Amino acid sequence: MRQYIIAGNWKMNKTVSESVALAEGIVEATKDIKKTEVVIAPTYLAAAKVADVIKGSNVKLAVQDVHWKDQGAFTGKVSVDMVKEIGAEYIIIGHSEQRQYFHETEETVNLKVKKTLEAGLKPIICIGETLDERNGGKLETVLSTQVKGAFQDVSAEDAAKCVLAYEPVWAIGTGVVATDEQAEDTQKYVRSVVAEIYGEAIANGMRIQYGGSMKPDNAQGLLAQANIDGGLIGGAALKPDTFFAIIKAAEEAL
Ligand code: 13P
Repeated sequence: MRQYIIAGNWKMNKTVSESVALAEGIVEATKDIKKTEVVIAPTYLAAAKVADVIKGSNVKLAVQDVHWKDQGAFTGKVSVDMVKEIGAEYIIIGHSEQRQYFHETEETVNLKVKKTLEAGLKPIICIGETLDERNGGKLETVLSTQVKGAFQDVSAEDAAKCVLAYEPVWAIGTGVVATDEQAEDTQKYVRSVVAEIYGEAIANGMRIQYGGSMKPDNAQGLLAQANIDGGLIGGAALKPDTFFAIIKAAEEAL
């Protein structure tokens, strides 16, 4: 049985004081959550303060990206040791916004995944197709390339620590959510690619989140699907009540 994982990706939203307030609201809302893993990913700037707020709570910390080098002249970047020191457990890697706007490639995703695992942290690896790719019959090729690229030279033991997040680019921030069936069919396919690389046991144990306009009113249907093991939430993660409503849908889906 895979444990649901609901993660809030705050993207470039919330100042430090707003982040602290949001984290406090989420800690309070989730104090009785028992079964679902709850993760929040504030900006780097707010991450250390948010880490203090969530200490001892049901909420875990992620950051939204990392560099694959240990240290040095990489202006604007943050290393995995810096992330680890403040107590983050997860690192979001390969988000489509990184791929689209900041030159993220299969190769840099793979370097970041390996570095994260080497440090003992867990990657949330994002994959997803554009609408043109889906309509052009390239869905499976795109996703299989992304999955295989991310896991290049990653051992089965390490792969088992990773979470995948299927985020169709056309559903992110658009309000156009994938239907339950589209998401389920696609995630089933993604799991088959993992099985091709690592075998059924690792594939069946791997958690695959859905992301892209997941909201309180569609979460229940999505989370009821056999191959959807949680959500990576953008807009709806920016308020304790909407984020909590999605967590509750996961908690009740178990
Ligand atoms: P939205 O939930 O705002 O569509 O964002 C999804 C996402 O990109 C999470 O990483």
